[in-house]
Amino acid sequence: MDRETRLIRTGASSALPARTVNPPIQRGSTVLMANAADLYDDSLVSYGITGLATPAALQTALAELEGATNVTLYPSGLAAITGALLAVLKAGDEILVVDSAYKPTRRFCDQVLGRFGVITRYYDPALSPQALMALTTPKTRLIVLEAPGSLTFEMQDIPALAAAANARGVLTLIDNTWAAGFYFKPLDHGVTLSIQALTKYVGGHSDCFMGSVATKDPAVGQQLVDAVWDIGWSVSSDDAYTMLRGLRTMATRLPRHQENGLTVARWLQQRPEVARVLHPALPEDPGHALWKRDFTGACGLFGVVLKPARETAVHAFIDALRLFGLGFSWGGYESLAIHCDPQLKSRSIPVQLEGPLLRLHIGLESPADLIADLERGFAALNAAA
Ligand SMILES: Cc1ncc(COP(=O)(O)O)c(C=O)c1O
Repeated sequence: MDRETRLIRTGASSALPARTVNPPIQRGSTVLMANAADLYDDSLVSYGITGLATPAALQTALAELEGATNVTLYPSGLAAITGALLAVLKAGDEILVVDSAYKPTRRFCDQVLGRFGVITRYYDPALSPQALMALTTPKTRLIVLEAPGSLTFEMQDIPALAAAANARGVLTLIDNTWAAGFYFKPLDHGVTLSIQALTKYVGGHSDCFMGSVATKDPAVGQQLVDAVWDIGWSVSSDDAYTMLRGLRTMATRLPRHQENGLTVARWLQQRPEVARVLHPALPEDPGHALWKRDFTGACGLFGVVLKPARETAVHAFIDALRLFGLGFSWGGYESLAIHCDPQLKSRSIPVQLEGPLLRLHIGLESPADLIADLERGFAALNAAA
């Protein structure tokens, strides 16, 4: 062969690599098939958009985590939510979305699904299963659940809501990111679709985006797979490797997030500037009984309602923090803080809180250092009052 050909072909992989602890990062768009018949055999992996070794290993591990028979992957957590909705909905359907859903979920419903003839109505997270079912019509195809809710941390009675929806043939989808698939198993409680932003606790290091949708309904599983091909979502093997690596230590990290989070939350409950801490693992929280019944633990994310304070004082609190980063994500090893009031304005049902709302993500730092940081924040808040 000429030198150009030798340069292109020599060393091309064919033999199995050495057996390492982790699966290989198999990069590839083109997949080489063995013969002409295989090219059109749908049971084989024929194109690298799905099915390569690294994403496949992640899918297997996530199926174990969620108790699922089918897991599909998406390039972000939001793409997992929108991907699941696009896979199962059609023009003329109606969906009911909990008012405390992650805000971009509602933006997708209003701005995109609406254009394709799917109508969204928002419901109060406090609704009983009977009251929620009373909102359904023959066109209701799906109910979106989230527990605890984004920013306001309301719990929902997921088993009862799923049972009521199943009895009517209505699908259910839950954003299960807070429990990371570890502290709550929605599919075991009758929910059809469990989505997760793997970007948060599965990744765990604030450096990678990905989302997953898990189900054990075979027909819905097939719709998800079809939509992945029809729409063309793909995740890179490098990112799948990063997620798989995060997943291996998640069961060790989460209890520390829980413990640190509760230490800080209990300290905050004693502060004179705080009206209420929104954290379902605290016995005083209105969602505590449901959390205790259905969940086996809590992550490090919760809300803090301050006593009435001016916006400038809240900004002074946030700006005085040195350890807490100011950032919108969560689930990494580091602590983060945001103020939430601007986001609450898009809710359909007005949120009644005593004062401004903060959201804290408690990371793996020492709680004593985090408390000292928050003390700095309160000093600044009081000085600006
Ligand atoms: C509850 C919840 N669901 C989904 C997402 C979306 O995840 P991603 O940022 O990977 O799109 C987020 C992100 O903040 C979230 O908080």
